[in-house]
Amino acid sequence: MTCVNMGRTSLARAMRLVLGILIGLEYCICHRPVYMEVGDPSRTDFLPDQRLSEGLQDLLRGYDPRIRPNYSGNPVEILVGISVASFSNINEVDMEFGLDIFFRQHWKDHRLSHNLTSKITLTMGTKHPADYIWVPDTVFVDATKSYMHNVLTTNHKIDISADGQVVWGTRATLRARCHMNLRTFPMDEQNCTINIISYAYPTQHLVFNWKSPSLVVLDKEMAQFYMNEVTTAVGRTQYVAGEYSLLQAAFSFKRRMGFYLIQIYIPCIAVVLVAWMSLFIDSRATPARVSLCITTLLTISTIWGAVNSSMPRVSYVKAIDVYLMTSFFFVLCTMLEYIGLIHQERAKKGLLRIKAPFFRKVDLHRESCDLTSESSLHQGELCSVEEGKRSQIELNDVKKNEASSGQENDEIDSRGVDFAARIAFMVVFALFNFFYWFVLIYFK
Ligand SMILES: *[C@@H]1O[C@H](CO)[C@@H](O)[C@H](O)[C@H]1NC(C)=O
Ligand SMILES: *[C@@H]1O[C@H](CO)[C@@H](O)[C@H](O)[C@H]1NC(C)=O
Repeated sequence: MTCVNMGRTSLARAMRLVLGILIGLEYCICHRPVYMEVGDPSRTDFLPDQRLSEGLQDLLRGYDPRIRPNYSGNPVEILVGISVASFSNINEVDMEFGLDIFFRQHWKDHRLSHNLTSKITLTMGTKHPADYIWVPDTVFVDATKSYMHNVLTTNHKIDISADGQVVWGTRATLRARCHMNLRTFPMDEQNCTINIISYAYPTQHLVFNWKSPSLVVLDKEMAQFYMNEVTTAVGRTQYVAGEYSLLQAAFSFKRRMGFYLIQIYIPCIAVVLVAWMSLFIDSRATPARVSLCITTLLTISTIWGAVNSSMPRVSYVKAIDVYLMTSFFFVLCTMLEYIGLIHQERAKKGLLRIKAPFFRKVDLHRESCDLTSESSLHQGELCSVEEGKRSQIELNDVKKNEASSGQENDEIDSRGVDFAARIAFMVVFALFNFFYWFVLIYFK
């Protein structure tokens, strides 16, 4: 009984021992490389880094990122520098423009003065600098949609100098409102501004200023615009919550005319010329002239619709509207001229028709009636046949005369009208173009 017990306990002990050895071995195999890397006391090359890390931890121990530097003292001054990487498209319908910026802010936080190295540069991984230190709560007032970049990690760079000077650089993409005046569109120039304020701190806590070079534009090109000039300003603005320090950057964009020249003006001129060519078509070719006029009218209204589909519904007339409206009017005039011509011809022809053939016929009938009544049956037949032939010949002559003389007159009339219309049309259209471009270029 005891022997069996003894045997059992020793067996259990032995098994426990084996298990223990196994676990120990497994632990050694799995964790040895990590242990070697992190805590090898023979390696000293990472000690400066460890010291820096400890120094940084010491620096931030007891640091409250919610409280601005020198809270009870002078307002903290934020110096701002912007590099515009590129502008994205300017949207007339929403009256917005976009820009991709590198945004730098400099300030002094005496709590962060250190003697670790001359300057520590920190990256943030997936965190935000505000998780560690106080950063200004800058707001882009006009921005409707904006985001920071976090590919591959959040795009932040923090430099802390030994004297506590902090530089925070970050990258942001903004879409900002821009009120546009489109009266001289498409030869317009748009001024768009970006206003920067602090969200929480009025002027007694925080003031903004530009740090030179205040605004650098790295890429001025856009598809439809190019950046003309950029100005910066410093000011103060009053809100309900108090007086705030304000920074302003104003960009002026000039529209490239080329697109509208190629896509709108030249086709429009071509259409007006086609309408003008309808004046060279014979006025008797009604289907040709009418269809040409109507086609050109529709084409201009299509162009007009295409222009305004990408425009905001402003309640004033744009320069391009003036051009399209006038072109439309010119095409309409060719149509009206032709309708006037037809009306005139019809009036003349109608009068002749009523005057001549109708009365003639009555006369002939009367003659033949007289003949039949006077003559005998056999004579009458002969007579009526001869008389009929004669009258037929007479009628043909009359008709021929009428037709040739009347139509010639009409043709000469309509040709004269068309000729005058052609010249008047060209002269007026050329004059209109001259004044239009002159005014648009010199008196914008
Ligand atoms: C804090 O503000 C006071 C003025 O109220 C000023 O004398 C002092 O130099 C400021 N301290 C720092 C570190 O800027
Ligand atoms: C560095 O600053 C700490 C206080 O922040 C001070 O105790 C230490 O003596 C300084 N070391 C040197 C080398 O200046």
